[in-house]
Amino acid sequence: MSKFFFLSYLFVLSTPVFAQSIDQRVDDLLKKMTLDEKIGQLNQYNGDWEATGPVTKDVEDKMTAIRQGKVGSILNITGVAHTRAFQQAAMDSRLKIPLLFGQDVIHGYSITFPIPLAEAASWDLAAIQQSARVAATEAAAGGVHWTFAPMVDIARDPRWGRIMEGAGEDPYLGACIARARVKGFQGNGLGSLDAVMACAKHFAAYGAAIGGRDYNSVDMSLRTLWEIYLPPFKAALDAGAATFMNSFNDLNGTPATGNSYLLRDILKGQWHFSGFVVSDWGSVGEMIPHGYVSGKEQAAQVALTAGCDMDMESRCYTTSLSTLVQQGKVPVSLIDDAVKRILHKKFELGLFDDPYRFSNADREKATLNKAEHVRAARDMADKSIVLLKNEGHLLPLSTQLRSIALIGPLVHSKKEMKGFWSQDIGALNDVVTLYEGMQQQAGGAQLLYAKGCDITDTSRAGFAEALRVAQQADVVVMAMGERADMTGEAKSKADIHLPGVQEELIKAIQATGKPVVVLLMAGRPMVFNWTAEHIPAILYTWWLGNQAGNAMADVLFGKYNPSGRLPVSFPREIGQIPIYYNHLNTGRPAKDEKDVFYVSAYTDLYNSPRYAFGYGLSYTEFKYSNLALSRKSIHNNETITVTLDVKNTGKYTGEETVQLYLRDVVAQPLRPVKELKDFAKVKLAPGETKKISFTIDKSKLSFYNDKLELITQPGEFQLFIGSASDDIRLQDSFQLVE
Ligand code: BGC
Repeated sequence: MSKFFFLSYLFVLSTPVFAQSIDQRVDDLLKKMTLDEKIGQLNQYNGDWEATGPVTKDVEDKMTAIRQGKVGSILNITGVAHTRAFQQAAMDSRLKIPLLFGQDVIHGYSITFPIPLAEAASWDLAAIQQSARVAATEAAAGGVHWTFAPMVDIARDPRWGRIMEGAGEDPYLGACIARARVKGFQGNGLGSLDAVMACAKHFAAYGAAIGGRDYNSVDMSLRTLWEIYLPPFKAALDAGAATFMNSFNDLNGTPATGNSYLLRDILKGQWHFSGFVVSDWGSVGEMIPHGYVSGKEQAAQVALTAGCDMDMESRCYTTSLSTLVQQGKVPVSLIDDAVKRILHKKFELGLFDDPYRFSNADREKATLNKAEHVRAARDMADKSIVLLKNEGHLLPLSTQLRSIALIGPLVHSKKEMKGFWSQDIGALNDVVTLYEGMQQQAGGAQLLYAKGCDITDTSRAGFAEALRVAQQADVVVMAMGERADMTGEAKSKADIHLPGVQEELIKAIQATGKPVVVLLMAGRPMVFNWTAEHIPAILYTWWLGNQAGNAMADVLFGKYNPSGRLPVSFPREIGQIPIYYNHLNTGRPAKDEKDVFYVSAYTDLYNSPRYAFGYGLSYTEFKYSNLALSRKSIHNNETITVTLDVKNTGKYTGEETVQLYLRDVVAQPLRPVKELKDFAKVKLAPGETKKISFTIDKSKLSFYNDKLELITQPGEFQLFIGSASDDIRLQDSFQLVE
């Protein structure tokens, strides 16, 4: 072969000049599809397992429908044997278009990680990304193509059960976490065998359900929508989220599923989203009880026109779209656009090249529950725990103790450690209880146990035994909180106090005079005033997943120095809700907590929360100093470098989360009293000092005006550096000039 021919041969081999682009392949396929086959792609059925809403009665056999090309996606089927069987049916269809398998992989797949709100408390973006990475790796090995996560809904109301599924109340932190989760799920990109499609949900403003009641209406200014609720969605989109999901709520009178302002104008218009939108469970059909449409046909027309591409379980698209096209009420071009978006993702995932590429039994076996996944789950759980109180340095516990009493309804619990939205894939036996975790690390100390009371039952019959056990111990550790089914979807509560007689039991044990540590395990912020005021050491441990017991023991014995910070304000009482740190000042701000004289205050309670956004203690102490701004005034396109020193002045190595807040002092419209604009988590050995540096640019100074334009206004900005939103250590100000 001559050199010339050899080189040309190599060129042909290495250049995909003849390979069709995905767009071309999608177009070619679309040309071959009948209208019914196109509509089939827009249809998502529930598999044969669990459901989070009413399962539509089947008028047809699912497998037959798949073989007829009437189904584009299935949710709630996992495991390669299971997914393979469904995919085989799709391969019997005329065009052999593969199915997409979707699943709520919310905090882990086989290995359960802490619930998302707990992970958010770590403020550790790398760890959060890694948690999503592990979940995706396991899920993809288990046949799943698509997770219905991350939930990026901002929540200012702990009555709302789904607060557990998000990143809390703050748009900046929420956006950072949304980005980390999307990157974690999608890894090196769709098509990798360890990546799943992410789904940013629920678009939009679901977390602002009135009264914290799930599925309720949302009524808010568009400015609040853009400023508070949309940033995490935009961040998820910028990180490449393949799909979005509608929310159940109506927004200012229009159900999100039929809301063309949200879907066409913002998402697919201004934001140029090229992926596809799936409805929430039955939410196309739910526009009927909303009172927005008269029946399924109109529901299908409104939803598709608004930009909802796939119908999850309401079956309005399959029953009505064909007629709507015949009647000229829905142009085929709209259907084509939705189909193309869905097919594109199937091509990107490589499913047309091998529909079974995620259904490999050997890979499934080799991937689930790997030791490195367990380690990541423990690391994440360690970092999610928040130390709320530690009077007299009661914690960490000494390993020289003779006996420790473990008291409470959650000491031996496995199921509750997994929390809501956990999968049943991993064995419950693999979940480490508090008791088991303590056994590993208690050294020579004897562990005593008494349940004391139930979570919700009001019987006090176990109190006497608990008191007897407490009396025998050097220290008491109490495991209190919620059941896993008390916070989650459709689990809104009007009363978020620590349930049952648990706080009474805490009082009784405290009265023994023994040192008491209380661990609070829940999916939401609870109200526990007596405990907060009287118990010397309190850890908020949420629902930590498989490694719960090990992580709690790590923190109790000081193997891990707690570093979690609250991603959401904890109210003193339910009457303060909604409560959030980034509120406006009002025309009559109270001077202090006691000021009630015709000012904006409660006459029977402080305005401040029990624990503020960003709050969390460590076993060590940190000192902040040397705040310096590179300049005191900037023009719009300039930046300021902010530096400061943080020193570990205590005895333990620890991590500090340094938070930067800004206040635009005079602005029209008004700006909040404080807004988180940056943070840095740093690890310091005792005596060690590190310089922290932040950059302030226009993006941190801009906000939406009444016309929803992103603007900046000249004037003074106050800058606060703190360890929590209510614990500001250093402050300065600068001017933005025209
Ligand atoms: C939830 C979604 C979830 C879907 C599928 C709905 O009830 O709101 O977040 O992804 O069910 O399980």
